[in-house]
Amino acid sequence: MDIDKDVEASVQRALIEQVRRHTGIAMNERKWTMLKGRLRRRVMALGLPDYRDYLQVLDTSSEEVRDFIDLVTTNETSFFRTPRIWEYLAQSFLPQWYAAHAGTPLRVWSAAASSGEEAWTTAMLCEEFRAREAAFRYAIVGTDISDGILASARAGSYQGRSIEGLRANHPALLQKWFRSEGARATVNDALRTHVSFRQHNLYSVPRELGQFDLVLLRNVLIYFDLDGQQAVLANVRRAMKPDAILIVGESESLSRVSTGFTFEQPLIYRIGDHREERDHEHA
Ligand SMILES: C[S@@+](CC[C@H](N)C(=O)[O-])C[C@H]1O[C@@H](n2cnc3c(N)ncnc32)[C@H](O)[C@@H]1O
Repeated sequence: MDIDKDVEASVQRALIEQVRRHTGIAMNERKWTMLKGRLRRRVMALGLPDYRDYLQVLDTSSEEVRDFIDLVTTNETSFFRTPRIWEYLAQSFLPQWYAAHAGTPLRVWSAAASSGEEAWTTAMLCEEFRAREAAFRYAIVGTDISDGILASARAGSYQGRSIEGLRANHPALLQKWFRSEGARATVNDALRTHVSFRQHNLYSVPRELGQFDLVLLRNVLIYFDLDGQQAVLANVRRAMKPDAILIVGESESLSRVSTGFTFEQPLIYRIGDHREERDHEHA
């Protein structure tokens, strides 16, 4: 058995198609080396002679599909990723939203939450805001397609690069909202009360999630093609209250897709007419 022998183009294409089918992530042949690198160990662990056999396993085992999704998704994330966004949330969004909705709990969706840093970052900011406005209430739902990464999000226990960034840039928040043991820091119970995680594929309509005031859909649209982005944005929009805010990732823009979102400021959108959005963004 030689797992490293050349893989036929038809098998490469079929695996790329499986990625699209199960996640919506659009890969092309140029991504094959990366995909092969991610699947190699799994194919070997299953004792399969080559990737063609793995395709058959994928066709017949929903458990394998779960592992496949964990392997092919890219989960890079960090606390306070893109600082500008968090400044906007703390300084503009939360005070303005609260002034207009006092008495109603804020509902936040961290869609494509990965290992949870984005959801926990939001929770820390909400808690800091609650220290000033005691009546403020909030709930955060983090979702991701990958069950494996959601287990890490729920555990809320971090070490290495992820926690080093928080330690360097927000030591007071780390001390207040985490329990530290050696190099590891774990989210404390006060923060946990407000955050839950569940599996969700952005290609399905998020009926069970309810309606949100703030949606973080960051660094995930880049993995989809234009049609995919359009489909995902239409789904996400259905879960947004009429005056909700959508925040996307740094290298993402809605200017090429007709989505019914209005550009508010870089990376920040509201529900509205898409022609308006293009005019603003290109102004
Ligand atoms: C790069 S991470 C982004 C994490 C975080 N939002 C951030 O900006 O730091 C992308 C996440 O999208 C998830 N993902 C990919 N395809 C998805 C889909 N179809 N539905 C839901 N989540 C998906 C991946 O599992 C991964 O955890």
